[in-house]
Amino acid sequence: MLRNFCSCFHPLFVRTNGILLILCLFVGVFQGCGEFKNIEEDCEHGSEMRAGKEPEPKPMARMMRAMYQQGEQMRKQILAGDSISPDAFPLLNYHNQIPTDPSVLGAEFDRHHAEFAQTWAELMKSPDPIRYNMMLQACVGCHQDHCPGPIKKIRKLSIEP
Ligand code: HEC
Repeated sequence: MLRNFCSCFHPLFVRTNGILLILCLFVGVFQGCGEFKNIEEDCEHGSEMRAGKEPEPKPMARMMRAMYQQGEQMRKQILAGDSISPDAFPLLNYHNQIPTDPSVLGAEFDRHHAEFAQTWAELMKSPDPIRYNMMLQACVGCHQDHCPGPIKKIRKLSIEP
């Protein structure tokens, strides 16, 4: 990844092909974020994300990654006995984003979203490990129907009793 990125700066390369340089920088920056590390753990709905060379993730996938990070952060705070606030953890607008596989959208997806939003609201009202785990269970509920790939990863976020 680093090598890929640095090769962009090779002087010969810069002189010979400016456009390629920009492209390369773009790819380098994205790879640099380490976002694609777990690409093989992503959805198993045969999306193009599983192909050898990863295209830029779709907006819903990007927001899901942010939700996963929110989960990690909440877990830390709950375990530390710190309070969590809806300002620090807004419910992201993931359900209106473009997904990798548009066929996931529909009544069932909306039902899962409503359930999930409900568990999120309850967790925000009174954060504790039980409500936190219920929120994660709602993540898993939707994933069982629409995106089984990350389920194992999501379950790892749960707080053991
Ligand atoms: C209502 C359905 C639904 C809910 C609720 C949901 N997800 Fe997702 N999730 C999806 C779908 C659909 C995708 C695939 C998105 C795409 O590829 O564009 C996805 C993708 C993901 C990914 C893979 C992103 C990537 O790298 O491509 C992760 C991780 C993830 N979700 C975590 C979570 C977590 C954590 C929660 C709960 C806090 C959650 N999801 C709640 C439907 C849901």
